Amino acid sequence: MAVQVDERLPDAAATPAQYDPDLEQLEVQLLLEGIFKQYGFDFRSYAYASVRRRLWKRIEAEGLTTISGLQERVLHEPAMMERLLLDLSINVTAMFRDPGFYRVFREQVVPTLRTYPFIRLWHAGCATGEEVYSMAMLLEEESLYERSRLYATDINEVVLQKAKAGIFPLERMQEYTENYIAAGGKRAFSDYYVAKYGGALFSPHLTRNVVFSQHNLVTDSSFSEFNAILCRNVLIYFDKSLQARVHELFYNSLAMFGILALGSRESLRFSPFEDSYEQINGPEKIYRKVR
Ligand SMILES: C[S@@+](CC[C@H](N)C(=O)[O-])C[C@H]1O[C@@H](n2cnc3c(N)ncnc32)[C@H](O)[C@@H]1O
Repeated sequence: MAVQVDERLPDAAATPAQYDPDLEQLEVQLLLEGIFKQYGFDFRSYAYASVRRRLWKRIEAEGLTTISGLQERVLHEPAMMERLLLDLSINVTAMFRDPGFYRVFREQVVPTLRTYPFIRLWHAGCATGEEVYSMAMLLEEESLYERSRLYATDINEVVLQKAKAGIFPLERMQEYTENYIAAGGKRAFSDYYVAKYGGALFSPHLTRNVVFSQHNLVTDSSFSEFNAILCRNVLIYFDKSLQARVHELFYNSLAMFGILALGSRESLRFSPFEDSYEQINGPEKIYRKVR
């Protein structure tokens, strides 16, 4: 009798394109639920297309064939969860990313910050810290760093460790120098680092007023009152309901007239808190809490 071979299982693995979309969605839901219950990381309201793409990337890298196969490994192996967390948390960043943002921040936000005796900033979703080092340089050059405290948080402990170490790839220094100049930097960018440990080691002076700590925007609550919150290129990965929840967290964490800065492809439009802010600069997505 001829043996019936199901082409999809298990030798002929289904590629993402061949997968039944409903089954795929069910498996993704189960996996994300499992991750939340087992590890407390809540990716259930992240934008589906992006999560799906990243899961398949990990499935391929591990030589697996199905999302359920990945689920089994993730639930039993914390090391697999760590690798998947790096995929899901998307840590792409740069120093003085979108230089125009830093130029506008210097010109239109710094004058207000200057009026405060003490300045508290929150970098939510700081990844490997390039954004925080950039802001530290800017505040230093504006003679505000001494009275500032920068809270730099991310869901991912691995990237925070890199941020603390302050060693960035030497090959990116050319790009960062150009960004720094375009951002209105007032010194020589090379003053801030030395070539060491196979990379560019940034001055520890830049982090003396920085507190790095793990914080999950989805599950953790507010921990202070800030004069400015920068959350750039993070909300783009969240669905609308999760974005609304995080906007509530930011609203509750900002002092009156505090500044909210989002990424270039993010906006307060259609958020439940849209009317609580005035726009300081449209293209650079800088807002001020006014009510
Ligand atoms: C693309 S990076 C943005 C880095 C930096 N803000 C920038 O604009 O260059 C997004 C960061 O958000 C972090 N992230 C994702 N989900 C998060 C969550 N629920 N809570 C805190 N951080 C989160 C990721 O770990 C990642 O480091």
